[in-house]
Amino acid sequence: MSRNADDLVRFIRDRAGEEPVRFGLILGSGLGHLADAVDGVAIDYAQLTGFPHAGVSGHNPKLVIGELEGVRVAVFGGRAHYYESGRGDAMRLPLEVLKGLGAEALIATNAAGSLREDMPTGSLMMLDDHINFSGLNPLIGEQSDARFVPMVDAYDPDIRRALREAALAEDVDMDHGVYAWYSGPSFETPAEIRAIAILGADAVGMSTVPEVILARFLGMKAAAISTVTNMAAGLSDESISHEHTKAMAPIGAAKLDRVLRRFLRDQA
Ligand code: HPA
Repeated sequence: MSRNADDLVRFIRDRAGEEPVRFGLILGSGLGHLADAVDGVAIDYAQLTGFPHAGVSGHNPKLVIGELEGVRVAVFGGRAHYYESGRGDAMRLPLEVLKGLGAEALIATNAAGSLREDMPTGSLMMLDDHINFSGLNPLIGEQSDARFVPMVDAYDPDIRRALREAALAEDVDMDHGVYAWYSGPSFETPAEIRAIAILGADAVGMSTVPEVILARFLGMKAAAISTVTNMAAGLSDESISHEHTKAMAPIGAAKLDRVLRRFLRDQA
């Protein structure tokens, strides 16, 4: 872990207490309100040197440490995307801090475009796997042999099972499939969407994949859930824009909250 991460872990523990966190949650566009449900201490990213400025509207740039459904969590109200800085490892420091706080697993959420007609706007899709369609990797430049991270079962089978059971218990339809990471910030062309459909993608988005690679690198388990905010480019007449993403995220977010809360309650 970098010196900066050690210092930040100390800084956070001095404010939020020494008890280790069990899960880290990264909240995607329009999904940041879950941070407000945590009974704990909120620290603005601005106070955490090296944390992203989270300059994307629809995010809630603070770290909240505390209890959610009886489980100690660290909730990241916003994330840095590759397209903000050109750095694939933009989330490395926050994830090092998460590891330093004791987390066993990262659960990421995001807004995504759907490639499947049976997964319309408002659907949830748990990630079974991903396709790195960006050609980028957050570990480029890493020198240790740990960089050769195995990515089989990167989305932890036990956590996926528990999330599926949580969705069932909540009577929430949660689909599952393969997420393709596109660098953004422009949206995909219809031809690109047709291409990744052939490659096996079910959903497309601009985040999460680098975070999951980093979490695995750091020795944490990982899982992720997308909320579908639109059909991917060329698949419907629906408009595709960041405004639309933010407006549609709450439809899936209410269901996502219930799944995540039930999952945590089951872990308590
Ligand atoms: N493409 C990429 N990222 C997204 C989309 C999309 O269609 N919707 C929400 N985030």
